[in-house]
Amino acid sequence: MSDKAADIYHAAGTEKTNAAQDTQDTQDTRGTQDIRDASNTEASSEETATPVKNSAKVIDLSALHFEPGFLAGLERLYFIACGSAYHVGMAAKYSIEKMTRVPVEVDLASEFRYRDPILVPNSMVIIISQSGETADSLAAMRLAKEMGVPTLAVVNVIGSSIAREADHVMYTYAGPEIAVATTKAYSAQLICTYILGIALGIAKGRIDQEKETAYINALEKLPDQISKILEDKERIQWFASKYANAHDVFFIGRGLDYAICLEGSLKMKEISYIHSEAYAAGELKHGTISLIEDGTLVIGVMTQNDLYEKTRSNLVEVKARGAYLMGLTNYGNYSTEDTVNFAVYVPKTEAPFTASLAVIPLQLMGYYLSVAKGLDVDKPRNLAKSVTVE
Ligand code: G6P
Repeated sequence: MSDKAADIYHAAGTEKTNAAQDTQDTQDTRGTQDIRDASNTEASSEETATPVKNSAKVIDLSALHFEPGFLAGLERLYFIACGSAYHVGMAAKYSIEKMTRVPVEVDLASEFRYRDPILVPNSMVIIISQSGETADSLAAMRLAKEMGVPTLAVVNVIGSSIAREADHVMYTYAGPEIAVATTKAYSAQLICTYILGIALGIAKGRIDQEKETAYINALEKLPDQISKILEDKERIQWFASKYANAHDVFFIGRGLDYAICLEGSLKMKEISYIHSEAYAAGELKHGTISLIEDGTLVIGVMTQNDLYEKTRSNLVEVKARGAYLMGLTNYGNYSTEDTVNFAVYVPKTEAPFTASLAVIPLQLMGYYLSVAKGLDVDKPRNLAKSVTVE
């Protein structure tokens, strides 16, 4: 995680004054959010924060230029995006609702713009976009603005249309992303949503300083934890090579794990051209289970401890119908191996942040399937990096 890729807001009331905001150049400084050591607040000339007496790290969202009290007054968030960015919104729904108890809705931009949406007062629309130029996302944002709802853009390309037109911008600072199928922008977008969730929880008095510190410490560990997952990549490569000829793959999970499944499935489709579907595990019985045949690969994602047994029992059901099972869960959940044929473990983190870790083995699966089939991983057929027309 880049040191700019996090955004911080202090529990002890460090919202900027209007006067301080007026002194900022909104063109140049928007979105330069940061995690910083609260004992070092004098380092920023923009700070108008109450001095902090300990060395706890804090979230500082001052560069987003929210009005004082704005976050505390929010009663609903709407995430709107396309493709993988939409899946970030889906993950954010689960993680932000868990952290803050503020309701979160998620829309595909192409649906939002044509469904005559209803946006409640005291809400904010958040557009997530790597390119900042996706036609549907831009149109959805313009519609939200017309409806008088404040907009925040979570964008990677600096100065892009969505970044320029949004009321507030939070840059992901993932660097240029070349390959068509997004990976690093997805990861950076997730971090932005966590930071926003933490800031919102603090503003609403639902996250205390101790929890804020725990969350920030967990965020700071993510890069090393991802490196650890990558050390296991040969196992995933070996497994992927066995399934290079698969026709259908199903991903199942509940809650945040379902959101992770959506992205794992999309990655597989995009770059390996294997048909795959992500299902909320509880929906299996409502139709999908009829597609399970001998040898069908089903990937169960089980990072949420409270849902672990539920999803595991769904895996048992499909196994009884001949499915071959891959299980993805946290280190320590070794009973997974009683059920699945191939287990992959990710390090533990705070529950709302597990998408950042669990997505990596799934991205590797898509990647190695593509390599095993001799495909061009970076330039999949029929896809564009940026979809600037409807
Ligand atoms: C295309 C890309 C995806 C991306 C989606 C949204 O389909 O191939 O990787 O998630 O557009 O793009 P955006 O730039 O708005 O994030």
